[in-house]
This record gives sequence, structure tokens and C-alpha cells, in this order.
Amino acid sequence: MASTSNMFGLKDSSLIKTQGYIDGKWVDSKDGARITVTNPANDKELGTVPEMGLTETKEAIDAASRAFKTWKNTTAKHRHDILLKLFRLMQENSDDLGRIITLENGKTLAEGKGESAYSASFFEWFAEEAVRTYGETIPSPFSNTRNVTIRQPVGVVAIMTPWNFPSAMITRKLGAALAAGCTAVIKPPPETPFSCLAITELARRAGVPDGVINIVTTQKNVIEVGKEMCESKTVKKVSFTGSTPVAKLLYGMSASTLKKVSIEAGGNAPFIVFGDADIEQAVQGAITSKFRGSGQTCICANRIYVQSTVYADFACRLAEKVSAFKVGDGLDEKTTHGPLIHERAVNKVAKHVDDAVSKGAQILVGGKRLDVPGSFFGPTVLSDVPSNALINDEETFGPLAALIKFQTEDEVIKLANASDVGLSGYFFSRDVGRVWRVAEALEVGMVGANTGMLSHASFPFGGVKESGIGREGGRHGIEEYMTVKLIVFGGI
Ligand code: SIN
Repeated sequence: MASTSNMFGLKDSSLIKTQGYIDGKWVDSKDGARITVTNPANDKELGTVPEMGLTETKEAIDAASRAFKTWKNTTAKHRHDILLKLFRLMQENSDDLGRIITLENGKTLAEGKGESAYSASFFEWFAEEAVRTYGETIPSPFSNTRNVTIRQPVGVVAIMTPWNFPSAMITRKLGAALAAGCTAVIKPPPETPFSCLAITELARRAGVPDGVINIVTTQKNVIEVGKEMCESKTVKKVSFTGSTPVAKLLYGMSASTLKKVSIEAGGNAPFIVFGDADIEQAVQGAITSKFRGSGQTCICANRIYVQSTVYADFACRLAEKVSAFKVGDGLDEKTTHGPLIHERAVNKVAKHVDDAVSKGAQILVGGKRLDVPGSFFGPTVLSDVPSNALINDEETFGPLAALIKFQTEDEVIKLANASDVGLSGYFFSRDVGRVWRVAEALEVGMVGANTGMLSHASFPFGGVKESGIGREGGRHGIEEYMTVKLIVFGGI
């Protein structure tokens, strides 16, 4: 078999790392065990990374703790300069970074490069936030004291990320952590570890000191690694993006040390098209929101509610556009939509389609897995999805647009909010009063009003209800990695 770096065909093959990273050294697991990483477009092996466990996790946490002693005392300007250098290195290497994302995740090259730019932008954003971590002066309630607050880094941070954004979910957390003065132990997803390892190599080149970033790759040992990250007294914060059930487990484990947590968990986004919407704009919004990453984002539209007056028109236009998608290997320029991450993901979409159809839904487009190598499911539009279909309660995480008819605003708000989770929600209307009303009424952390796009480094990303805790990105993102300290000066 070709070497791992050859499998990626990069301009700079030294960006491909096949080891974990602890205390500034590329390292293997103690027992030599490896995880195999495959390309979801053809199931071919891309390479392997170490299967690390408890011992390596403890070493990584110790290294991060030692490095914290000096990193926390660097000036904000120093951290700003390093982060900006890292941002520029990511830009210079964007072709390679985009290609790594496409090969390990499956998304198209355009999406891979788009993610790489999005990912780099968090280092730029947080470089600029680092130098603005102001404290405050508090008017004194006593004549003989003066009172101020300062903001300090929380300490060692454990970061756990998913495969759907192999790069951006790392940098949205790591950028904020480094800017604040924290050090990090990262567990990248076993399906897509190479993006994280490439960013780590660029961070090393940008001058991030040894021990400040540590990478523990793991798959089978994920429970013991995750437990240690949550229960270690040395780790002061856990930041996790992934499913709600895993988030609950990690949150429970973190309670033992009362550490700070940020959680970005599952969504089940409502997407509402009112009768007064610009229908073409709504169709475009649905394509963007529903089919980005072949439906594998936490903010993908999941339940598409369309008012009865425009239902047929919307369904017809959406079906026409989805039928024109070109599904295939993300490296092929003609491909508009890549594979799903693995067979389990394909099975879940198939289950949602079969369930809805068995309860009366109609297939307008797709509805089947594709009989080719790789993990492909044909982009699908279902109409007349009934209220008892599974998709009403579960995130599909795949290329399935489920259309549900509604009659009134009150009815659709109730339907949209009838969910335990609340990450994002979307609606389309040209009535300004309704735009305000619905934006305020949706029980979600992020609303797209007449848009299907919510992602930017300057936006606070996060949910309500069982979709999570805290915000990432925006000016709020860095606060999650800092504490506020009060200092009262007496005897004045
Ligand atoms: C996610 O799927 O959680 C991330 C989406 C984004 O940042 O755009």
C-alpha cells in the first residue's frame, strides 16, 4: 500500500502526521495499537493513527498542566501574534487542508476548502479577541477600597470534537482556548484525525510552545479517555461537540470536579416557509441549510414546515433542484454532494425514509442508498410527512428533506418548539411583524430569518434546551475559557 502521505497527494506531504502529539513530540501509543482511517467515498484506507488510552491521556494532561504555568503568563499580544501566524499558515496551506478534509470526511473539495477558510478564521478572530479581554473597575461601596476585576484563563482544557467538521470544530474551540491563555488536550474524532494533526503541525510551525497543544487519538479506548478528561482534577474545562446522549454522559462525569463545560450537541432544526415568503429564496435557503455537507451538520434543517398555500410550489421547486445534484467522490469537480461518513449514517437515513413512507409520506426524489462503493445515500425529498414519523423527533444527519404541511403561524410555532433540543431554526417570510414574532418565539439558540446560513467566526454559536451549554465563536466564545477574578484593594 502507498504511504499515508502519498494517499493524500498534498503539495506539502509533511502536513500528514500519523502519530499523536504530547509535550511537543509526535508519539505512538504505548502498546502500538492503531486506528484505521478510510475515505468514505470509496472505503479505501487512507492511513492509520495511534489508538491511545488512559496512560497517554494522563501524560498529555500533565504536559498541558506544565505548559500552562508559562503560557498563561505570556502577554495577550504575544498570543495574538502566534494565532495570527497560525491563521496565515492555514491560509497558505488551504489547498492541502481542504484536500485532507475531503479525503477523510467525504465533503466536496469546494466544501473542504470552504471549511478550511472557516476554520482558519477562528484563529484570526480569537487573535483579535485575545487583546480585548478587558476587566473592569467597580465603583466602590466603601470609601477605603477600590475594586477591579481581571479575567484569567481557566487552565488546562479538554477538547472533544466530531467528524462532520474535522477542522473547524477544533479551531473554534482551540482558537478561543489559546487566546485566553489556556493549554489544551484534544481528542479528535477517529474518523477524521488527519485535519487536527495537520493543524497541530502548523501550530508548531507558528511557534506554539511544547505542551500547549496535545493530541490524543483514540477510538476503542474513547470511554476511558473521555472519563479521564472529564474527571481529572487538573483539567479545568471540557468543551465537547457531538451527540446529546454523549454530551449528557460527559456532563455527568464533569460534575465530579464541577469543571466548566461547553457543549454543542444535537439539533433537530425546524425550517418554516410561510405563504408570504419569497419561495425561490426559501428553496435556496433549504438547499443550503439541509444539504450542506450532505446533511451532516448539527444546524441542518431537519423538519421542513411549509404553509399549505405554497406547499405544492415549494415542493416542486425543491424537488427539481435536488434532482440536479451530482453525487460522488468529493475530489471530482462535478460532484455537488459527497458521501455520508459511514454505513451507520446511511442506515439511519434509510430508516427515516422507510419509516416515513410506511406512514404515508411520498418520495419526490431519491429515497434509496446508492449501489456503489462508499457510503452514499441519494439526496431525497419526501412530501406529506406525517406527524408521527420518526424524523419529527430525531435528527436524520443525512440528505433527507422532509416536507410537512401546516396551516397557521400558531400551529407551526407549537410544532417547531415541540422538541427537547433547540440549536438552530429557520423561517422565510416577508412580513416584518411576523419576522420579529417568529424569531423571538422559536426555542433555539440561533435563528436564520430568510437565510439558511448561520456560520461565521463572529457569530455566537450554540443552543438552548438539550442542544447545549455556552457559546462558541463571536465575542462570547473566549469567555468560556476565562474566569473573572475580583480584586478589592483595602486600606486606601
Ligand atoms: C455543526 O455542525 O455543529 C457546525 C456547523 C457550523 O459551524 O457551521
